[in-house]
Amino acid sequence: MNLLTRMFFISFSLLSVLPSYAEEGMWLPNLIGETRLQEMRKNGLRLKAEDLYATEKASLKDAIVHLGGCTGEIISDKGLFLTNHHCGYGQIQSHSSVEHDYLTHGFWAMNQGEELPCPGYKASFLIRMEEVTDQMDMESLADKSPQERDSLIADRKQKIIQKAVEGQPRGYRASVEGLYYGNQYFLFVYQTYTDIRLVAAPPSSIGKFGGDTDNWMWPRHTGDFCIFRIYADKDNAPADYSPDNVPYVPKRSLVISTQGIKKNDFTFIYGYPGRTNEYLVSDAVRYISEKGNPHKIALRTQRLEVMNRYQSEDPAVRIQYASKNASVANAWKKWQGESKGIVRMKVIDNKQTLENQFIRWASDKPQYKELIPQFRNLYARLEPYAFAADYYNEAFRAIELFQYAGRYARISKEELSKLEKESDGYFKNYYMPIDREIAKRMLRAYVEKVPKKFQPALLKQHASRIEEWVDEIFEGSVFTSSDRLKTFLAEHQEQPLSLLRKDPAIQIFQSFNDMYRQCIADSLKKLNTEINQRYTAYMKGLMEMQPEKLFYPDANSTLRIAYGKIEGFKPADGVVYHFQSTLDGVMEKDNPDIYDYDVPEKLRELYETKDYGRWCVNGSVPVAFLASNHTTGGNSGSPVLNRKGELLGINFDRCWESTMSDIVYDKDMCRNIAVDIRYVLFILDKYAGAGYLLDEMKLN
Ligand code: ARG
Ligand code: GLU
Repeated sequence: MNLLTRMFFISFSLLSVLPSYAEEGMWLPNLIGETRLQEMRKNGLRLKAEDLYATEKASLKDAIVHLGGCTGEIISDKGLFLTNHHCGYGQIQSHSSVEHDYLTHGFWAMNQGEELPCPGYKASFLIRMEEVTDQMDMESLADKSPQERDSLIADRKQKIIQKAVEGQPRGYRASVEGLYYGNQYFLFVYQTYTDIRLVAAPPSSIGKFGGDTDNWMWPRHTGDFCIFRIYADKDNAPADYSPDNVPYVPKRSLVISTQGIKKNDFTFIYGYPGRTNEYLVSDAVRYISEKGNPHKIALRTQRLEVMNRYQSEDPAVRIQYASKNASVANAWKKWQGESKGIVRMKVIDNKQTLENQFIRWASDKPQYKELIPQFRNLYARLEPYAFAADYYNEAFRAIELFQYAGRYARISKEELSKLEKESDGYFKNYYMPIDREIAKRMLRAYVEKVPKKFQPALLKQHASRIEEWVDEIFEGSVFTSSDRLKTFLAEHQEQPLSLLRKDPAIQIFQSFNDMYRQCIADSLKKLNTEINQRYTAYMKGLMEMQPEKLFYPDANSTLRIAYGKIEGFKPADGVVYHFQSTLDGVMEKDNPDIYDYDVPEKLRELYETKDYGRWCVNGSVPVAFLASNHTTGGNSGSPVLNRKGELLGINFDRCWESTMSDIVYDKDMCRNIAVDIRYVLFILDKYAGAGYLLDEMKLN
């Protein structure tokens, strides 16, 4: 090695232990320590720690709501909150009918009386979070068996939770979550509101513009937003729907910035990212990118091929399968980007380098020294189970008939009548020929790819004639149409349940589930428990080995702050992505013949007449933008905020080239996508004529 290459190597390996890049990381708001805050302020933040998170007074955290898998933000003192159209989709759909098709035409309440209650929909505020590692007293569990450990951990969590919610106001709930693989534990106390009403939703041709064609991609032109309002009782406390409830008065609502964005402006995101795995060892990443993802992608490619073919032949089927197709396509596309990114970033090699460094460093440390070989051994043992579980989930569970029949497998008579009532809703979006063809393909793949010991007996018996067998099942089952099911139940009122259990679809459901329970579940759980224990030690070791590095905990659906800046990127040689898209781009894509790109007439008119009002910027209207905030699924609906904590936009996606950021972050490629708040205001004001809502907001 000559001097120059040696110097290169030295500086390269130094780089890998320097503090994380500015844009990387999802930080716990109450732990934004001095270093982190200084770094954020150096990049432009103008707020203090207590403006971000405080418990004694109102802070930004009080404007953030958790909506299950999504995030929302409060934008008025009357409980109005924003989230994504794709987050509110289920609520919008459930209020839609042929007469009132809000998915197609949009919904705009013109006064509070017109808002639509959404039973079952909930919004939670984080009241406080605090570290409870000491109370969990993990050291005392060191010599316990994995089972004892698990149950003691569960007990201790439960005690802490009970104490936290005892005597608290209505709607309080709490959870204890491990961070850094259980090296730290935190208590999270929430208050949950349950009277939520739909206020506004654009038509899908705005809120889902670009559909799955543009999903995970830039340039993007989607107005992916909708608006709800939280209602409370007269004391501002949570209460289920009542006409007497009044708009909730929040502790804090966001100021909306209409000033616009420039390249390199500081931004941060407050929200509930779901799950990341930044500290996986190379064996785990290898499984994901070389085995898990390719197989799961191939299975979904087949399903999508079948759905797309039937959907393109019949408009009614296209609508029936729109939402199912979208959710299959969403992860399918994401995994492809993720696998590509893992290869491009040489993640497996880099992880191995780190692991070799760890082995050398740990050679005189008994508590760490065996970890890497143990991981290797455990992952090798895990692989067959993980692989079988992937096929169980992606192939077997992709068959709607079996999943639906499974609901009837172990029920009482009362539950039966409930299911019967709900069956119309299920069959409304069921098209048997699609399901039957998918069943043939999925079971064929299962037989060919999964070792015999993970195949249920019924499947093995029919392995040589899967296609005929599937036809027989579909002919013999009563769960393939609403008529068949209803006729059967009407004819067998005496003993419907015992007869139903003989249905071939239920029998296959049972045989797969028995196999899963007997041959996969236990080993999977046991091995994962052992692996996670190693991660607890490995994480601790990594932190000791790289004391100057700032580690952030993996996302786990708890409140986080990520920060970065407004910036585009270069996705490929010769291609540069600008950070902003505009209404001109919506019109460039406009095509009445392509469902995903059919711009609504009213928006075309606004464009023709350039009737943009105060939302005009350089002759157009801003629509979406890119920023380098580290996000993941669950961050949908999260506010993208400027240096003063004012709302710039609503996060709704990541770029395809970024999706490996759940495993490794690349500051040159990882970009989140947000709808520009000015587009939201333009649509409300000029498109919907719901400008009255703007009067409630604080615009700057
Ligand atoms: N990719 C985004 C997410 O992971 C948006 C999904 C909804 N939009 C769609 N076109 N399917 O959730
Ligand atoms: N659309 C995603 C969501 O629903 C966000 C995209 C991502 O994974 O970053 O949370």
